[in-house]
Amino acid sequence: MKQPKRYLITSALPYANGLKHIGHLAGAYLPADTYVRYLRAQKRDVVFVCGSDEHGTAIPIQAKKECTTPKAIIDKYHEAMKQDFKDMAMSFDIYHRTSAPIHHETARDFFTSLNDRGELEIKESEQYFDEEAQIFLADRYIKGTCPNCGSDRAFGDQCENCGRTLSPDELINPVSTLSGKVPVKKKTSHWYLPLGKHETFLREWILNDHKNDWRSTVVGQCKSWIEGGLQSRAVTRDLNWGVKVPVINADGKVLYVWFDAPIGYISATKQWALDNGKAWEPYWNDNDTKLLHFIGKDNIVFHCIIFPVMLKLHGNILPENVPANEFLNLEGDKMSTSRNWKLEMRDYINDFVKNADGTDKENGGGQCVDMLRYYLTQIAPETKDSEFTWKGFQDAVNSELVAIFGNFVNRSFVLMHKLCNGKVPLFHNDIIDDKDKDLITRIATAKENITASLEAYRFRDAMFEIIDLARAGNKYMQEKEPWIVARQATKAGVPIPEAQEQIDNCLHLCMQLCANLAILVNPFLPFTAKKLCFMLKVVDKMLHWENAGSMKLLSVGYSLRAPELLFRKIEDAEITAQVEKLKSGLIKTNNNNAKLTPAMKQELKPIIQFDDFAKIDLKTGTIIAAEKVEKADKLLKLEVDLGFETRTIVSGIALHYTAEEIIGKQVTVVTNLAPRKMKGIESNGMILMAEDQSGKLHFIKPETTIDKGSNVS
Ligand code: MF3
Ligand code: ZN
Repeated sequence: MKQPKRYLITSALPYANGLKHIGHLAGAYLPADTYVRYLRAQKRDVVFVCGSDEHGTAIPIQAKKECTTPKAIIDKYHEAMKQDFKDMAMSFDIYHRTSAPIHHETARDFFTSLNDRGELEIKESEQYFDEEAQIFLADRYIKGTCPNCGSDRAFGDQCENCGRTLSPDELINPVSTLSGKVPVKKKTSHWYLPLGKHETFLREWILNDHKNDWRSTVVGQCKSWIEGGLQSRAVTRDLNWGVKVPVINADGKVLYVWFDAPIGYISATKQWALDNGKAWEPYWNDNDTKLLHFIGKDNIVFHCIIFPVMLKLHGNILPENVPANEFLNLEGDKMSTSRNWKLEMRDYINDFVKNADGTDKENGGGQCVDMLRYYLTQIAPETKDSEFTWKGFQDAVNSELVAIFGNFVNRSFVLMHKLCNGKVPLFHNDIIDDKDKDLITRIATAKENITASLEAYRFRDAMFEIIDLARAGNKYMQEKEPWIVARQATKAGVPIPEAQEQIDNCLHLCMQLCANLAILVNPFLPFTAKKLCFMLKVVDKMLHWENAGSMKLLSVGYSLRAPELLFRKIEDAEITAQVEKLKSGLIKTNNNNAKLTPAMKQELKPIIQFDDFAKIDLKTGTIIAAEKVEKADKLLKLEVDLGFETRTIVSGIALHYTAEEIIGKQVTVVTNLAPRKMKGIESNGMILMAEDQSGKLHFIKPETTIDKGSNVS
């Protein structure tokens, strides 16, 4: 296989509008990091870039939700995401940001170069406009019903539910997310990238050249885009947040976020080069560079169709591959930010890795980072969607990392200390047997298989092969039983030299296997590799990939350290707590407003007259009994004492309060609401609750306890 001269590896630039979850990590970051560590272990010339995507409507929308400015949002999330990635050991050469001046300049130059050469078209069209907010409604400023799946969580750029890329015109019943109003149409001009003109190029490049080496899921998506007819795509927007369009009289227009963001890979490379006294150009212009984009499947069209056309027109190299991952589900359901069904990297770090002051948890630190890296690689959604479960995590850690990998290393060290004085024993070639030979071959083949899998971006397979190699080590040791040999050797009271030679051979090979495991596992579990190096008293240089497969990694007679625990067990209580936490945080909602502050919801009901309000009978009451309603996880059946009578009320608060904790609480009750049956129980009234930003419900009650049955108005 001919190796390219250099590599430029990118991970999708995450939007700086919120913390990222483990689905993101497994999709676009962890596999890239693993691949890069593998390249670095071969001393290849590689630059790994990432950074925050700080433009697009996602940012001002988040700013509004948090009642702050877009600038404050990007600063906050840029730093937070950078820290999360660092804590999960993502080894970017640079983590840049698209608000940096060098990025704005690079993106503007890119646009100008295409525009000057007539590669862009200007077209006038009618677009949705919010008359109240006085703004054109691009992308996430407009929502409606998805024409594809019928979900009401579809935005002007993409459906949150089915992932389909959309344009505002495709939305059914569009409304402005700013004012909640139905928009009108208004004329505006924009620059377009005429993709249709590049159909032949795309067909040949993807459907011909790469149909076998790209993932079939990726080729499949590209094919349906190409075959669906390639439309011109607007590359500018009427917005005031983003990279200004570098043309006179284009005030109020910025580059479309998906035009500028991928250029962020280039500007990040430039900044890296500046910081390191290197030249950036070869990484983007020289054909002997291998460019790879690691992304999630919702980014395929941008990285396989639109950005490549831009790169080609601009005279840059094209990606050699785009190993996009499918999605990672969580405990039986799609991960979702609006429903709070997710596991953020930060949550994992806080619960398993680090203390609040940044120090490692006693039971945490690098080993817990590696444990998550292991499980996410093992379940990587490479060919189809896959699923994270806490039970699966526990099993992967306890029965593979602990029971196979950790166990093999630990046994080897313990026995070597016990039976060989803590030194790497000699290998006696004259008594080599078939089992020894098999193990030696097994190590060499494992290296080949792991290398081949990594070269093909099959990280799951590679990880599996590593565990399988450790398993082979355990089996070898089990068959050789050096502890029994030792017992027999001293039984008669006289030492039998042949017995010690057998023991030496076994433990010599086991120790060499430990060293091989360190090299092979290093791209996946960097902390584990480091710890192994420490125990083996070898320098990091040993981790060079070339060394894998060798049986001469450790010198005979060299004394090694005592073993340390590589991985700790995950207890049942830990996973139960995590599942509980996930479930209690779930926000059940039919709309995507769940996380908006009340002020953002904007969906004010029509004005009512005082007489209408006066019809509602509100009184104070005290909850005197409460119990869970069977087969309804949201409902509690309450007995509320109103002073003059006791009412049965069924209330949807079970996800927020337990029955026990609310007994005795004073509440406000709508007492004249028509009775309603819920799960067979008649509910006679309603408890007033206020919903906070996180979706949690709180009782509305008098400041101090007052008589039951008091009027509220
Ligand atoms: N911000 C985008 C997302 O999170 C990804 C941008 S990738 C880039 O889906 F190529 F545009 F940078
Ligand atoms: Zn949809």
